[in-house]
Amino acid sequence: MNAPYTLDASTEVAVIGAGSMGAGIAQLAAQSRHRVRVLDAQPGAATRALERIGADLDAGVQRGRIDAAEREAVFGRISVVESASQLAGCGLAVEAIVERLDAKKSLFRELEDALGADAVLATNTSSISVTAIAEGLADPRRVVGWHFFNPVTRMKLVEIIPGVETDPAVVAALHALSRAWGKTAVDAPNAPGFIVNRVARPYYAEGLRLLAERIAAPEAIDRVLRDAGGFALGPFELMDLIGNDVNLSVTESVFAATAWDSRYAPNIIQQELVRAGRFGRKSGTGFYRYADGARPPAA
Ligand code: NAI
Repeated sequence: MNAPYTLDASTEVAVIGAGSMGAGIAQLAAQSRHRVRVLDAQPGAATRALERIGADLDAGVQRGRIDAAEREAVFGRISVVESASQLAGCGLAVEAIVERLDAKKSLFRELEDALGADAVLATNTSSISVTAIAEGLADPRRVVGWHFFNPVTRMKLVEIIPGVETDPAVVAALHALSRAWGKTAVDAPNAPGFIVNRVARPYYAEGLRLLAERIAAPEAIDRVLRDAGGFALGPFELMDLIGNDVNLSVTESVFAATAWDSRYAPNIIQQELVRAGRFGRKSGTGFYRYADGARPPAA
């Protein structure tokens, strides 16, 4: 029997992984009137995410986007938990942890034990097969890809990606919830990189090739793409916003999933930045230098 998969503002939302994306998803859910529980494996990470959300809401009050009472209400809906067992009762889990299949699979095993049988288990993966994440679970029908973009509260688009076993009722419920959260949802196939990350790979790769061949510096390439190309961000600004570590993982995942199609090969510059800990805005240095702790804005 198919579960009803009812997702509305009364659904408590579990967000697992409190980095750039998890913080944004938690904030968006709370702004959409859900109670939200945030879990991160790294001690203190979820609390720091809450601080970033608070600072972002404060900026919203200052700019007149929300009033002080609404700020308190949104912030008050988000709490931090320490283990998956404390997610019991949540009707929707959104996973935004490290982009590694083994880590995601093991988390989803915990989530299926912790959450009720009719809870929807969504992954914000950028590139990993939703079918592979769901494989081995008792009920893979409730696992689905729900791919947000950075910064989550500002970017309109989400991709909804069913795996082989995903129940169409789960996809329908996520479409309705995406609308309620103010997003435009598109159906994307469970193919490497889905739609957006497939199209975006050459944008980064060609920028990196221009840099490697000493044809132009990041500043020049970014300016040209922004000013003449009409892109909101050039490739280097965008890689620094996404996180060079996350972006490299996505490149590696798409490269492997396309049987090492050379179009998607990682670039040595990208690899060296990650080895040096230059993850971008979130670490303070990437292709550019940022003020301390300049995480991507959550809203
Ligand atoms: P991030 O590196 O900023 O944050 C990841 C967080 O997950 C960290 O706080 C880490 O401590 C935590 N974590 C790692 N393993 C965990 C586990 N087993 N259990 C609980 N917490 C764990 O990464 P970011 O950028 O937020 O990305 C997260 C996911 O979202 C990845 O799958 C990524 O591909 C995807 N994504 C990223 C986008 C971006 O622009 N950064 C855009 C869309 C999707």
